[in-house]
Amino acid sequence: MPTPAAPPRRYLVRTFGCQMNVHDSERLAGLFEAEGMVAAHGVEDADVVIFNTCCIRENADNRLYGNLGQLRALKQQRPGLQIAVGGCLAQKDRDKVMERAPWVDAVFGTHNVGHAATLLERARREGPVVEILEAAANAADEFPSALPVRRELPFAAWVTVQVGCDNKCAFCIVPSVRGREMSRPFSEVVAEVAQLAARGTVEVTLLGQNVNSYGRDLALKARASDDWRAHAYMTGEQWAAAGAPRARPLFADLLRAVAAVEGIERVRFTSPHPKDLRPETIEAMATEKAVCPHLHFPLQSGSDRVLSLMRRGYTAQRYLERLAAARAAVPDLAVTTDIIVGFPGEDEADFERTLEVAAEAEYDSAYTFIYSPRPGTEAAARTQEFVPPEVVADRFERLRLVVERSALRRHQARVGLTEEVLVEGPAKKGGPGVFSGRTRQNKLVHLDGGPLRAGMVVEAVVERAAPHFLKARLGRVISPPRHRELIPVMAN
Ligand code: 5AD
Ligand code: SF4
Repeated sequence: MPTPAAPPRRYLVRTFGCQMNVHDSERLAGLFEAEGMVAAHGVEDADVVIFNTCCIRENADNRLYGNLGQLRALKQQRPGLQIAVGGCLAQKDRDKVMERAPWVDAVFGTHNVGHAATLLERARREGPVVEILEAAANAADEFPSALPVRRELPFAAWVTVQVGCDNKCAFCIVPSVRGREMSRPFSEVVAEVAQLAARGTVEVTLLGQNVNSYGRDLALKARASDDWRAHAYMTGEQWAAAGAPRARPLFADLLRAVAAVEGIERVRFTSPHPKDLRPETIEAMATEKAVCPHLHFPLQSGSDRVLSLMRRGYTAQRYLERLAAARAAVPDLAVTTDIIVGFPGEDEADFERTLEVAAEAEYDSAYTFIYSPRPGTEAAARTQEFVPPEVVADRFERLRLVVERSALRRHQARVGLTEEVLVEGPAKKGGPGVFSGRTRQNKLVHLDGGPLRAGMVVEAVVERAAPHFLKARLGRVISPPRHRELIPVMAN
């Protein structure tokens, strides 16, 4: 009698942190699917649980070790269960993860996401393994977009264009866990976007820690090579041609090339650094129809003294000038930001400047964070100047009110307007027949008047505004979904 085939093993990826991590998790999922595994519903039916960790703001340590503690009992009941920890916190903590949770099977860092499945396989044979690299072993590892990807939304995709960061913001741990800034070859990005478009993806978000300085390193590297093909691959053919300007491609060139890919209707990017926002980028936003009118423009603080302590490289006035230039050039631009409250040494006058600048900037929304010391960063050493928690809490609330006021005003100004909405699926709240989607400005919209399908592009008339979303009535359908369902997308 033939033996029945073993059921496929099941994986579960738990993600913490930013879009870069969300996208790395899509790669982890793609990797496990390429190994013949299928997604688990929860820890109960998982054979492999992977934590993709973050250490940028929260005290992720406690959360991770709490989660791992819960899994310990489960592992005692099911010794076949494998647990892996990857991402920024693993990169930072290295051997400490295994010391604190010796029941973990594999630990990997930010430069070897693509090794996760192999490491778990090795752990099955040899016992627990830790592999943290200082930098990727080769270019394919550095840009794990070259790995299979199991994308969460087939009609909208993240595309990594740059990893690492060469800035040294005093509060930020990213440079130490993500390494030096490195741009992905121009031709590779454009090829991935073309491939996504061919599968029906209509929206792409270009990701980079410091996305607007994309290309700086490519131009230098390409110049060092006298092989035209290698140069063209790195910078794109147009910038490898004789007589092309030497400092290309710019991020603006990439924006234009991606926007020109047939089938791509929406191009977004995150996050640019205000000091590096070039007029060419604004120009590309203004002239390329597919580039969405939304700029995420992290302010961090409105006080010049604090900005300088933070090593941000701009003043509040310079920031506001660049913002005004962007608004003047790009019609109907939505602007969002990141602000940190309670940076060491921030006093009441500094904070009032932040309130003033935030009010003047008239944000559509803002991510506001309470400063949290990250080990090894410059600001974390200034313990004498830490702001007392009750002062921080009070400032945080005052800032929230200022931001919500402008967000509501900006949203109210849209009541009565017709928006183009990319439908994401049924709304989490609001009952049957209510769908959610995003406008070109990246605003969350709840729509009445379904049934609708994810991936559809529709027109909707805004009826009501709240600080964090719009409510709208369905108008005409502009286009049906184009993506094919449930096909794991293979990049390259
Ligand atoms: N504490 C608080 N917020 C931080 N951010 C980065 N590091 C810290 C920190 N140590 C915020 C910044 C950044 C966003 C991604 O996270 O505002 O823009
Ligand atoms: Fe961190 Fe500053 Fe680099 Fe952004 S630009 S990742 S805040 S160091």
